[in-house]
Amino acid sequence: MIKLAIFASGNGSNAQNIVEYFKNNNEINIEAILSNKIDAYVLERAKNLDIPSFTFNRNEFYNSESVLDILKEKEIDFIVLAGFLWLIPDYLTRYYPNKIINIHPALLPKFGGKGMYGDHVHHAVYNHKEKETGITIHYVNERYDEGEIIFQAKTGINADDTPDTIAKKVHALEYKHFPRILEKIFLGQKFNKH
Ligand code: GRF
Repeated sequence: MIKLAIFASGNGSNAQNIVEYFKNNNEINIEAILSNKIDAYVLERAKNLDIPSFTFNRNEFYNSESVLDILKEKEIDFIVLAGFLWLIPDYLTRYYPNKIINIHPALLPKFGGKGMYGDHVHHAVYNHKEKETGITIHYVNERYDEGEIIFQAKTGINADDTPDTIAKKVHALEYKHFPRILEKIFLGQKFNKH
């Protein structure tokens, strides 16, 4: 059994999509959803989906290893970041090398880095008059949006697109590809039990 934890800071539509995709999969299970925001809607989703959830604050995340303790306790193999906004601390990237995967709502290395999240990304893409945008699925290292790229998918931008319609197109790509690419990674990657 491959065990996943999803980290999310906000709405959690990708988290829900991933949980639903793997619902009937006997090899891959979502063990927990973790959030840095106690009022994030993703926690409501976790409750409805019957997935245990945990929250943590900045001090716990950066000045203790209590999050790692939860992950160890649950024997988590992979961490999926689905709209998680904080930088992953070294103790986690060290413990989970190439086992933390993020989705970014643009074609990295463009429109990445600190502050480039959610609608900020789509506004930036719109303001730069880009002809295309997309999604990037990548491994996470100790710097924002700089880990090795695993997969990208593109969508065109037309003259009548707005930041809002761009966001919708990108979300559609996320829902379509993220769970399938994760499945490939999990099943294709030999993983060592900690
Ligand atoms: C997604 O666009 C994801 O790529 C980004 O944050 C957004 C999260 O949306 N990193 P949701 O919380 O999954 O609805």
